[in-house]
Amino acid sequence: MKFYPFFWKCLIFAALHCSAFGDSLKLVVISDLNGRLGSTDYRESVLRGMDRVLEKKPDLVIGTGDYVAGEDISHKYPLSRLEAMWDSFERNILQRFFTAGVEFAPSPGNHDASGYAVMQRERDLYQSFWNQKAPRVQLIDQRFYPFYYSYVVNNVFFISMDSVTPFRIHHGDLQRDWIRQQLQSPQAQRATARIVYGHVPLYPLLNKGKHSHNGRGKYYEVLNKEQWEENPNGLEKLFLDEGVDLAIFGHSHAFFPGKVIHRREGRQDRVLRILSMPCMGSGARYLSGQTGRSKTGFAVVKVHSNGNIFVQGYLLSGEVLDHRALPERIVVPGQHNRYYRDDLNWQ
Ligand SMILES: [Fe+2]
Repeated sequence: MKFYPFFWKCLIFAALHCSAFGDSLKLVVISDLNGRLGSTDYRESVLRGMDRVLEKKPDLVIGTGDYVAGEDISHKYPLSRLEAMWDSFERNILQRFFTAGVEFAPSPGNHDASGYAVMQRERDLYQSFWNQKAPRVQLIDQRFYPFYYSYVVNNVFFISMDSVTPFRIHHGDLQRDWIRQQLQSPQAQRATARIVYGHVPLYPLLNKGKHSHNGRGKYYEVLNKEQWEENPNGLEKLFLDEGVDLAIFGHSHAFFPGKVIHRREGRQDRVLRILSMPCMGSGARYLSGQTGRSKTGFAVVKVHSNGNIFVQGYLLSGEVLDHRALPERIVVPGQHNRYYRDDLNWQ
């Protein structure tokens, strides 16, 4: 029977080309590539990881911040050193995407474009660099580009946020109101899915014992004043009300595909799906309840044409990251919040 080899060839072809099964978008997310302050090169593992990223043949790559090793608060380095960092980023990372014909849409991190006035020169440099390298996507609102902006790719609506300082979203009401307007726009409303991303995350998910001391430390570097229970007019409530399907954050250097469930008696659960990104560069951290550091890596996000979203983590070696090895639950502040791994049934 000649039919069978032909049938299997078709099936293999379809499996290799996901669109045949209804994926409308394959996205790669990278985050936190930087080394120590002032470094102008990237670890060998980051450069090799770039090969694995490009092998995924994504429709788009997004970054959740910290591409260079800035945040030079004491002005230890001259401006030329900061420029050398961005030259290195362009040569080692960005140029590889351009060569492969892949667009890269960044959001800023605290090491790229700190929100504190003393580091304004880094923010200025970020702006001039990305003004020359704007992603060739269908931009919806670019008034505040490259710090925050919205765009559409394959009918998926994206918002890149300026989330570079802890506690409250940078620019406060100005950015929050802008995000609401974007999510209410016709382009967002008719999109297959709405994805928002930025650097400093909404919720803490690190091992508190290892990443905090006397009420300070990485554990606390989150947008706690934007969590629903802290602020009924904050970013999280806005995401829930306006139909955000996935929020992606960097900065924590720990991979966790999760969802925060708000459960109040007599009311329907409200659920926000949040992807916390691993770092590609140095400084992997301990996830809550874990005794080993999170692995360095990246994530692939597939958006199905029916709006379903699938997340898969990868190590920089290209190996699939086993989500079942991650904690089932992260304990977070808030009386009604439950933060679970996103593949679990939380009932
Ligand atoms: Fe950061």
